Parts: sequence; structure tokens; C-alpha cells
Amino acid sequence: MSEKGVEIAPAEGKLGILLVGLGAVSTTFVAGVEAIKRDISKPIGSLTQMGTIRLGKRTDNNVPMIKDFVPLADLDDLVFGAWDIFSENAYEAALDAGVLEKDLLNQVSEQLSSLKPMKAVFDKRYVKRLEGSNVKEGKNKMELAEQLMQDIVDFKQNNGCDRVVMVWAASTEIFLEPSDIHDSIEAFEKALYDDDDRIAPSMIYAYAAIKSGVPFANGAPNLTVDIPALTKLSEDENVPICGKDFKTGQTLMKTILAPGFKSRMLGLDGWYSTNILGNRDGEVLDDPENFKTKEESKLSVLETILQPDVYPDLYKDFSHVVRINYYPPRGDNKEGWDNIDIFGWLGYKMQIKVDFLCRDSILAAPLVLDLALFLDLAQRSNLKGVQEWLSFYFKAPQTAPELYPEHDIFIQLKKLKNTLRYLKGEDLITHLGLEYYDDE
Ligand SMILES: NC(=O)c1ccc[n+]([C@@H]2O[C@H](COP(=O)([O-])OP(=O)(O)OC[C@H]3O[C@@H](n4cnc5c(N)ncnc54)[C@H](O)[C@@H]3O)[C@@H](O)[C@H]2O)c1
Repeated sequence: MSEKGVEIAPAEGKLGILLVGLGAVSTTFVAGVEAIKRDISKPIGSLTQMGTIRLGKRTDNNVPMIKDFVPLADLDDLVFGAWDIFSENAYEAALDAGVLEKDLLNQVSEQLSSLKPMKAVFDKRYVKRLEGSNVKEGKNKMELAEQLMQDIVDFKQNNGCDRVVMVWAASTEIFLEPSDIHDSIEAFEKALYDDDDRIAPSMIYAYAAIKSGVPFANGAPNLTVDIPALTKLSEDENVPICGKDFKTGQTLMKTILAPGFKSRMLGLDGWYSTNILGNRDGEVLDDPENFKTKEESKLSVLETILQPDVYPDLYKDFSHVVRINYYPPRGDNKEGWDNIDIFGWLGYKMQIKVDFLCRDSILAAPLVLDLALFLDLAQRSNLKGVQEWLSFYFKAPQTAPELYPEHDIFIQLKKLKNTLRYLKGEDLITHLGLEYYDDE
């Protein structure tokens, strides 16, 4: 062991997971955890449940499960809560979302039916395609934040939770640019009292979470907690945060393929991505202002991985187009097509076509689980502010302001595992490996 590691408080007692939005992703997540607890299924896609971590040399044969290596909350100790603008319980919402089969949902119907959403902080101006009545009222945005903080206190008490984390899995809000009211907590709090339009509902949830000492993950591309006022507040309040936008589907494929092209010095002329999607998320994203938020998040990935400034002969001026088309018959079963125009030796052109028949919420649900468990671990390890080691889970990872995000999924995974080794005081793995060939 090279370092002592950090002191990690044990994962004792119950962990509450508060979900903002009880739609396709959230209900697939909760139903999945309940099914896994009953041995109906395995936690496929979850690194915390299925992943391993190598410790020491390759010859040591020491590869524990991640969940045995670091103290994570046990699935049996999880309790769920949610807010939504619709008052349906999780069983009804899961049926509506149409992701999981009724047979499966019926096996966990008791747990799902008992999960009833609290009244949401919502404003139609930020999600134009939705209208619901399970919504809080308050004289200004600060009062709404205070109501959310009271919800957190009540939830914790009513469910006997020792700790709570919050995950935003609600609809994507319209595109917002950072501005002066997002710069400092003083300006932000004044804007809450002033009911300023530049404060979206997601920011009110994030503020309420941080002020309550609750770690916050942002699964959508909204600005939310990616503003100086809230990142600074999370440091001051010792609360870990992370975001933005779960990395699933097409962007997952991009961050798997693009690092491969770059590692072989293959050039790129263009990458055209299109999707058809028929769930509520697709309907919300059909509005240009909401799509713009998603588009920004999806477009950022290739530039950062391919570094056109460093490799102009390979990547200067490549064309990158992303489209999402709302097509109801497909429901949650999205189809994402990629046409990739690459070039190789002597500039000879080649094409790659990817047709990913994916299931959006099936890919996202294990990410919610991992993020909740890792954020709780981070808090018990006294980590605060932006958790860059969780970039692995996001399309547009949050970082310190002076840093560019790391998008390469393989680097992200190494970073995540090295952070776990660091926490436990194990040697970091550099993959140098010269020691295996050293005769001395
Ligand atoms: N499924 C994926 O692969 C994936 C990947 C990346 C990001 N996301 C994002 O995750 C989010 C959830 O996706 P989904 O498929 O579950 O969508 P969904 O439409 O099924 O569920 C979202 C829920 O949020 C609720 N909601 C909207 N605004 C709210 C508010 N202010 N407070 C409380 N509830 C609110 C809606 O009523 C809805 O029930 C979306 O923003 C989506 O873009 C999903």
C-alpha cells in the first residue's frame, strides 16, 4: 500500500434515494432494484454490483468485487422517494412508461404502488410539452426551495433514513446560458427571492439538496448544478455533486468508438447521428428549446475526444450532426443510427454504420443505482464539490472550471477505479508493467 487512504464512515442504516421525476428511468430503476432484491434478475449494467477491481500486480491475483472492496450501501437498505408533476404511483407510472413487462411489474407491485410522488416544483415554461397538477405553490422560488427542504426532512424521518442522496431523472429543461445570477450564492439566493426566470426548477431542487447536506446527481443535460453558485455552495456545505446527462445509447457508443479511431490515428470527415424515440422524453425533446439543451450535451463529446487542434490533419473541420425525432410507435425502444465517414492510409475513405436498437431506460437504470451508491460513498469519504471521477456516467461531465471534461470511456473507468484505490490506500494502477520484466 502506497498511502493510507481516507477514513470512510461505514454504510450503516438506511440510504434514501430521492428521485426527481418518476418517469421511465426512475420506475425502471426502482422496479429493477426490487426485482434484483428478490433474485428475479441480476444487476446487469451496474458497475457497483457486478464490477471488479484489480489490486496490486497482475501476478497477485487479487481482484475483489467493487462492492466488497469499498463500503457501499446494501440494496436491502435502500428506500425510495420521488417528486413528479403527475400523482400516479410508481406502479402506474411504470405501466405508462411501458419499459418493463406487466408480469415483472406485478411481482414487485406492492413496493411500486407504495411509492407515491410528492408535489413537484415545476414551471411549464421550462418544459413546454408537459402539464401536470401535482405541483407546489409558493410566493417565490425561495419558498419553493424551503418546501423541498421540508420534504427531505419528512422523508428522512418517515422512512428512518440515516442518509439521503438525490438524482435528477426528470424531463430535460429548455436551454439556459449561465449568467451573473448563477455566479455567486448571494446573487443566486437573491434571484430565488426575486423569482428570476433564469432559475429553472432543477436549480431549486439542487439548491434544496445541497442546503440539506444531500449529494446531488444530474441525469439530464440542464445547467442545474453546473453553475459557480452551486458548485461553490456544495464545497462550502461538504456535499458531493455530479452531472450532467446520463451517458447511454448513442453517446455511449461514440465514447467507445472515437477513442479507438484516435488511438489508431484514423481520420474523421464526419459523424451523422440520428434517433427515433417514442417515449415522453422523446416528446419533450421534440420541442426545439428542450432539444437544444440535449444537442449541446451530445455535440460536445467528439471535439474533446478527437482534439482537432492537436491533430488538424485528422480531425480539423469534421462535420458532426445529431438529430432526435419523436416517433411514438417505438416507445422507449429507441433506434439510433450513426454514419461515420473515416479515412485511413493515404487519405483513403471508409464508412462505418452503426444501428443500435437500444432501450433507453434499460441502459439508464443501472447508472442511477451506481451514482446513488457512489455519491453516498463519496459523502462518507468526506469528498465534496464536483466528483469528476464519476464522469464515466455522463455525456457532459462536470469538472473544475479550468479543465476540459474527460470523455474517453476507458480513461473515465481508470479514473473511477483509481479513485476507489486511492480512497482505500491501495497502489494506483498505471499499466506501466516494467516490473514484470525486471530481472534484478
Ligand atoms: N433514458 C436514457 O437513456 C437517458 C439518458 C440521458 C438522459 N436522460 C434524461 O433523463 C430524464 C428522464 O428520462 P425519462 O425517459 O425517464 O423521461 P420521462 O419523461 O419518462 O420522465 C420524466 C419525468 O419527470 C417529470 N418531471 C418533469 N419536470 C419535473 C419537475 N420539475 N419535477 C418533478 N418531476 C418532473 C415528468 O412528469 C416525467 O414523469 C430526461 O431528462 C432524459 O433526457 C435519459
